[in-house]
Amino acid sequence: MKIVFNEKNKVFLIHTDHTTYGIAVVDDKYLAHLYYGKRLEDADIRYLLREDEAPFVPSKNKREKGSFHDSTFMEYPETGMGDYRESALCIRSEEGYRASELAYENYEIINGKPELSGLPATWGCESDCMTLKIYAGDKVLGLQIILMYSIFEGLDVITRSVIVKNRGDRPFYLEKVLSACLDMDDRNFEVTGLFGSWARERHVQRMPVGYGRQNIASFRGVSSHQEHPFIALNTPETTQDTGEVYAMNFIYSGNFIAQVEKNQFDSLRMLVGIHPEGFTWKLNPGEIFTAPEVVLIYSDEGFGKMTRTFHNLYRIHLIRSPYLHKKRPILINNWEATYFDFDEEKLLDIAKDAAVLGIEMIVMDDGWFGKRNLDDSSLGDWYVNEEKIRGGLNNLVEEVKKLGMKFGIWIEPEMISPDSELYKAHPDWAIQIPGRDTTQSRAQYVLDFSREEVVDSIYEMIASVLRSADISYVKWDMNRQLATMGSFALESDRQGELCHRYMLGVYRMQERLITDFPYLLLENCSGGGARFDAGMLYYSPQIWCSDDTDAIERLAIQEGTALVYPVSTMGTHVSICPNHTVGRTTPFETRGHVALLGTFGYELDITKLSVEEKKIVKKQIQEYHKYNKLIREGDYYRLASYRENGYYDSWMIVDKDKKKALIFYVHVRARANGKSRFMRLKGLDGNKKYVTDGTEYSGAALMQAGLRMPSVQADYKSCLIELLEAEDDENMAWS
Ligand code: GLA
Repeated sequence: MKIVFNEKNKVFLIHTDHTTYGIAVVDDKYLAHLYYGKRLEDADIRYLLREDEAPFVPSKNKREKGSFHDSTFMEYPETGMGDYRESALCIRSEEGYRASELAYENYEIINGKPELSGLPATWGCESDCMTLKIYAGDKVLGLQIILMYSIFEGLDVITRSVIVKNRGDRPFYLEKVLSACLDMDDRNFEVTGLFGSWARERHVQRMPVGYGRQNIASFRGVSSHQEHPFIALNTPETTQDTGEVYAMNFIYSGNFIAQVEKNQFDSLRMLVGIHPEGFTWKLNPGEIFTAPEVVLIYSDEGFGKMTRTFHNLYRIHLIRSPYLHKKRPILINNWEATYFDFDEEKLLDIAKDAAVLGIEMIVMDDGWFGKRNLDDSSLGDWYVNEEKIRGGLNNLVEEVKKLGMKFGIWIEPEMISPDSELYKAHPDWAIQIPGRDTTQSRAQYVLDFSREEVVDSIYEMIASVLRSADISYVKWDMNRQLATMGSFALESDRQGELCHRYMLGVYRMQERLITDFPYLLLENCSGGGARFDAGMLYYSPQIWCSDDTDAIERLAIQEGTALVYPVSTMGTHVSICPNHTVGRTTPFETRGHVALLGTFGYELDITKLSVEEKKIVKKQIQEYHKYNKLIREGDYYRLASYRENGYYDSWMIVDKDKKKALIFYVHVRARANGKSRFMRLKGLDGNKKYVTDGTEYSGAALMQAGLRMPSVQADYKSCLIELLEAEDDENMAWS
């Protein structure tokens, strides 16, 4: 059995192929956490509760109930009864008291996994997964919660979410409802997270865990450039291949907190959920609140196994797009080529040169609507500017199609410019606090997406543009963070619901878009990668990774992003040098190699490329066609990190049959008087023989001793190395 409840011991054991998660009912009331880690066949682990140690359980030692609360490993800790570590649940009663004390009621085990209404979440049919629902209630408040644990057994994944119900007769207020908690003894853990800024997203950082609380968070209204809804605890010696990792990733795109706390007893509490800052939610009798889902992964084979588990889960059970397993059209985007300065003629010039080289789609970025010639107007006026796009959109799209190319557009639906027709008509649609100066950012306000009529009316405007021409792709952007949070549509005791309701509105509109336009390829974006998260991947199979397209800067950005997300989801483009963000000049080939680890496209004025550069574009396009299936569907291994070693970076992808692999290597900084470097490969079959460049090697030797990397005397030079199983017909192998 995969999920078992031992009635005698009152212990739940949740098994995946290689992991076990244990929960116990203590004193017939409290839900305590027992264990998470490597699979345990022996079910008798109740001793882990230390029930025979002081302060004992409240039924035996009522006078020390506070200590019980403060020291027990709780499955879903609450505010107010004496647990002074961070709580997962905080409820304020109508009278203003903040406390709850949940008592276990019953459980249910079902095949499959319930949907989380209005929220992105992993999905699977009855044979893919199983769900344990644990019910607990608080009589004083009339509160019930359902803790949900779903297992994807073969993938070694557990997902968690929480439903809160008001089954009483008076409203109460949720002040904090986190989605997952994990208590355990410290084993000298480090905490690993992803940090950055605009154009420098998701750099990996490992820190020792000390006493107190370390949190990774955003209350910017988006998952953010700066911090990321991912947290891992790892043993300090953890590498890509060895060491223990406990990881949580939040399937949500708004405010979040991911925290680890080390307390007086050297135990740890790891929590993930919606950030409580600014959050309250009024729950009337009969209503329910659903907390977004958290994915839990335990790996005893380092970060690499964790990464590949996330990749497999998201490719099989999160992303729904019909494009997921397809080669995406190679696109050219006009943003870095023209910024706002374009018209239909310029776009057609780009498209003509692009088509000749084999580029398959042109994307018209920001500046095609209203009177937008700079970033200071027209958001919300979603009609084509025919002074720029003379002859209209349909005409332009048809001309592009005659070149054999598809057409895509950029939109930013959640925004409203103070200088727009929409704002003149509906000033109250902007998020704002009456009487306060509404905070502008990039000269724009944010629309109140908590209001259905706002979402519907923006949707209709955008849908009519999409219906007016044959548009194959949409880049959905979101270029600022939320501030001056206030909604005209919410009552005073519901203003704290705005951030989450806003996110639900965004999800609703994305769902409607992909339902009404099922073959539209949707790429999410947020000033580069401020909303590159698992929530968005439920709606779009790819997300623009970063506004920084410099090949060297991208190494760390893509390394951090691929730590959690499949490489097929990373928006990657080749751009011009000197690079517009950092001014660096890198070889054209290297830019192509770096962009291959993702969706692949161009973001430059192709009409200005030299003959030599155009030849390289052709070669890059051939490489994309040759390798994309492997890159999209294969297993990703990180071989070396420039961020760590300061000199070189390398990854490889191996197909599921271990018959072929592709290795990327970039020599970032040249070093005097060095020997050639052997790179120890990963993921191959040690018993197989592989061929590269006419030489045969044993898989075992390649993994144990390594493959020799080309020795170069220059910075930024990169190469791709193919490996094929010996005796495999080469044409067959790469088809
Ligand atoms: C954001 C995006 C860019 C581009 C601009 C347009 O910054 O990340 O790719 O679309 O907006 O304004």
